[in-house]
Amino acid sequence: MNQLPYDPRYERLINHYLEHDYGASEEFFSPQEINSFRTLAIEAYREEEFRLAGIGNRFQVLKEKTIRSDKILWLDKKSVDPILLNFFKQIDEYVSYLNISCYAGIRSYEFHYAIYEKGSFYRRHSDQFRNSDQRTFSMVLYLTEDWRKGDGGELVIYKEIDGVEERVLIEPKAGKLIFFNSSLEHEVLESHERRISLTGWLRTT
Ligand code: OGA
Ligand code: NI
Repeated sequence: MNQLPYDPRYERLINHYLEHDYGASEEFFSPQEINSFRTLAIEAYREEEFRLAGIGNRFQVLKEKTIRSDKILWLDKKSVDPILLNFFKQIDEYVSYLNISCYAGIRSYEFHYAIYEKGSFYRRHSDQFRNSDQRTFSMVLYLTEDWRKGDGGELVIYKEIDGVEERVLIEPKAGKLIFFNSSLEHEVLESHERRISLTGWLRTT
């Protein structure tokens, strides 16, 4: 495998992850890229390409509106849309970086857009399911334009420190990327405005 050049953006994200159990970055994608991802999501949403999300993995879906009420659209890795090509190219780079610098053993990934309309939420859960599909890392990229305090839809990550549970509240501001181990429990608080994100999982299978 080729040696990748040292990338301070990835280093900061990975170091934050190692220190805090979750990585946070506001420099992974440029503001222009964030706008392009959001525009694409809104267009597809208008075309009614989103579906009510279920729980379980993408092959075994149980519709359960009391647990989550967002709508999702899986991204097609074979898409030739230049916006998605750029997105996947950068994800590929990051995955290579993780594999080379941290021996992460990531072999595949899957991503979907998610839109939480007013009143939507995703109750406390972990992203590793019983019919384990080897989700190792979860990544969430926020796309909501002009998120403000009071708009809701914060991500809550539950960490355990010396046997004591700690709640970390993350504001879903456009451009922010969050990276955590898929076994960590987390929750999306009720959103009071439309909330747009791109969520994905890096897998070892
Ligand atoms: C998920 C999830 C978190 C977020 O889709 O599994 O937990 O902040 N998303 O959107
Ligand atoms: Ni989740």
